Amino acid sequence: MTNARPMVAIIMGSKTDWETMRHASEALRAFRIHHECRVLSAHRTPSQLSEFIQEMEQGGCEVFIAGAGGAAHLPGVVASQTLRPVLGVPIDSSSLQGLDALLSIVQMPAGVPVGTLAVGKSGATNAGLMAVAILATSRPDLRDKLRKYREQRAAKILRETLT
Ligand code: RP5
Repeated sequence: MTNARPMVAIIMGSKTDWETMRHASEALRAFRIHHECRVLSAHRTPSQLSEFIQEMEQGGCEVFIAGAGGAAHLPGVVASQTLRPVLGVPIDSSSLQGLDALLSIVQMPAGVPVGTLAVGKSGATNAGLMAVAILATSRPDLRDKLRKYREQRAAKILRETLT
């Protein structure tokens, strides 16, 4: 890992969200970004959520990723308590198949932004990659790794043939 202290925090509203949010963690692991994953809910554990955000900020965390389903207020609540970038991942965990979470997270009123990603696995992976891109703005070595990652994906597409 690049640093002993977590540079990114991944928070999810329920353990049931992990099946989706593990993809954010995997993206960060691919770049050897030290991060911490926690289950904390905006409505079930509000005070513990606040304590965790403070603890992570004091430890030098630079980006927060928050995944939630249903009413999905977790990313907005996290954003209300930090000036660090917050990336929101809508989870497909309700009878509305994530549309509720998407609209909830993406519709933050002006003033307290949440960068909203796609619903589900793609959104979680991209949240991890976007956190890497944010960290890479001040870390040339990480920017090189990100460039190589894109190049490898392009090369894979170009190798594919239709038979
Ligand atoms: C949200 O409610 C969580 O983010 C989860 O997606 C959803 C359902 O949670 P569980 O009832 O499965 O714990 O707060």
